[in-house]
Amino acid sequence: MSLNNASREARIYPAEPGESFERLGASATAGLLARFRHVRAYTDRLVAPLGDEDRVAQSMPDASPVKWHLAHTTWFFETFVLIEHLPGYEVFDPGYGYLFNSYYEALGPRQPRRHRGLLTRPTSRQIDAYRRHVDTHMARLLAAEPASDLEPLVLLGIAHEEQHQELLLMDALHLFAQSPLKPAYRSDWPADKSGGAGQFRFHAGGLLDLGDDASKFAFDNERPRHKTWIEPFEIGDRLVTNRQWLQFMNDGGYTRPALWLSDGWVLVQAEQCEAPLYWERAANGTDWQAMTLGGLRAIDPNVAVTHISYYEAAAFAIWAGARLPTEAEWEAAAGAGLLEQADDVAWQWTRSAYGAYPGFRPSADAVGEYNGKFMVGQMVLRGGASVTSPGHARHSYRNFFRPEQRWMVSGLRLARDLEHRPKADEDADGFEADIIAGLSAHPKTTPPKYFYDEAGSALFEEICGTPEYYVTRAETALLQSVVHELVSSIAADAVLVEFGSGASDKTRLILDAAPHIGTYVPIDISPDALQRAAERISRDYPALRVAPLADDFTRAVALPAHVGHAPRVGFFPGSTIGNFAPQEAIWFLRSVRSLLGVRAQLIIGVDMIKDPARLVAAYDDSMSVTARFNKNLLARINRELRGDFDLDAFDHQAIWNPTLERMEMHLVSRFDQLVHVAGHGFAFKAGERLHTESSHKFSVESFKALAVSAGWVIDRYWLSSNPEFAIFSLTAPA
Ligand code: AVI
Repeated sequence: MSLNNASREARIYPAEPGESFERLGASATAGLLARFRHVRAYTDRLVAPLGDEDRVAQSMPDASPVKWHLAHTTWFFETFVLIEHLPGYEVFDPGYGYLFNSYYEALGPRQPRRHRGLLTRPTSRQIDAYRRHVDTHMARLLAAEPASDLEPLVLLGIAHEEQHQELLLMDALHLFAQSPLKPAYRSDWPADKSGGAGQFRFHAGGLLDLGDDASKFAFDNERPRHKTWIEPFEIGDRLVTNRQWLQFMNDGGYTRPALWLSDGWVLVQAEQCEAPLYWERAANGTDWQAMTLGGLRAIDPNVAVTHISYYEAAAFAIWAGARLPTEAEWEAAAGAGLLEQADDVAWQWTRSAYGAYPGFRPSADAVGEYNGKFMVGQMVLRGGASVTSPGHARHSYRNFFRPEQRWMVSGLRLARDLEHRPKADEDADGFEADIIAGLSAHPKTTPPKYFYDEAGSALFEEICGTPEYYVTRAETALLQSVVHELVSSIAADAVLVEFGSGASDKTRLILDAAPHIGTYVPIDISPDALQRAAERISRDYPALRVAPLADDFTRAVALPAHVGHAPRVGFFPGSTIGNFAPQEAIWFLRSVRSLLGVRAQLIIGVDMIKDPARLVAAYDDSMSVTARFNKNLLARINRELRGDFDLDAFDHQAIWNPTLERMEMHLVSRFDQLVHVAGHGFAFKAGERLHTESSHKFSVESFKALAVSAGWVIDRYWLSSNPEFAIFSLTAPA
């Protein structure tokens, strides 16, 4: 292969403008000949939009002409498969070995890499003929059942061609970016999906198996599978966005040496680098635009940043108070299902140097030069990109590039050590970033956790007392009637951990029924309220050890050390689980499982689907307490983020969404208006909604499915009637 890196999962291109883009690949179970034909046809389709002149030029030594990619991938099959395995095969042209060998020393001298663009001959027609010649002979060879030593070579040739498919797109983009005309490879090339920034997810680490398990095709550098120790860590579930990158740039990211690795700083200065590759100022001198395969386009702040070097990624991570993940962390997090945008947007730089896994040995023949000899001076990227060929990426895939390279579709996600997480109450920037991102999204939305400042918490208590909001009363009544059964399996000296404990009122029912509980760990984001509640509990239950934890309960990853190893019982009342999006609820329940450990019990209150009229009344009470609760968020934004929301210019709205089985709270703009927050302007149209909260409601079956997909076992549940509310007891399997 021509290059020391790359891998992909790409799009197949519409034959006609307007035909939709789709991602497809030959199934991994299709016969070898079908897979060979598919990969060759896919290459043909990729190069179809390119003219003869586009195919010859070489824009830099790292990039190769399209024509060369077409010939080299063909040479690979001819050299490693046909010459070795098809009796009587005659090479198409003996001169091609010199022209299209990439880097195989064992196969002799070759055209210098930087001079590949000088090969005007053979012509494109001759290279097409070369491809067809090799295709015909490969079809003859693969028509019969292949010998066992042939299959791995053909699969390698297919994976190799897929790598070149991605390279071909990267190289075409680089070439077109040099042209003042900024031509589009395809003007209908799809933009990356706009989705905004994500959040950190916890992984407990431990002794894990990493690397490919040898059950299907993988490159030799992904093997052997081996044990790796990983400390607990957090990793971003989404990639860093252009908006975050602009903040980095505006904060002097490219001019502050303290953020940069020494080599990176030298490079940034030498090349006067001030933005990702392909970015340039728009005609107004302020906005940014970037060259893409669809031509020059405005930067979308909500899509992932791409075309950055390792040095830039590392500098950004330092600026953000985080770091890049190691490749082991990336693979563990991907395997645990923690990552969005894992392999369909951009390759992600890791902080791992590209090297051999313990026990790695390249094969002794020329193919052994494929990966092993590049194991120095490069960094590993994980995942896959928008230009990666379908089905090419996998969790164990190790892509690698030199730290200064950035013409590939490279981006980043952040990671951090637990000791470097900002304390929950220090995360003021998080509030601003979340609100700005939410108000920039379509439709506009804000995370519900920001309701609960001092005033918001008091208003929520008031909601619980309204005649319409049945949730608290229904849960308390059910808890009272089943508490003795519920606590019957709690062991002596157990630790009770409550998530979002507030005033710890419902907890008392459990503590009264189970005086043998030894320790109580209330977790709540509000330190003052937590302290007050903890003092009251200590006073009323003198034998109980009370160990409060002031943290956002979704982030709690360790219990206080002195809690020890006594059996643990989690308590998560109030149907707060309904305020998470379904995938977030799964993540949360998984992290609770890892926090509480094996054989733990989780007691969880869950509100059931019921008559929509009753639901709507509960979220739109006649005394307008819920409306004040909803609008209090705007007051908080005004106070803490220099906002100018007019609270009277928005109406509270509560609606039942039957498709997503959730109550939704919105704030509806009464007229066209412009609102400012932290120096940003946000236009609202008359009737436009700001979605502030979802409260998912469940059936017994839908909640069971959720709990099971988070790895819990359903122990028992109790259901009250009219209004229907459930308490589930879950256990964590050993
Ligand atoms: C905290 N949480 C479960 C409440 C709910 O029902 O979703 C918050 C709430 N929002 C409006 N009313 C109550």
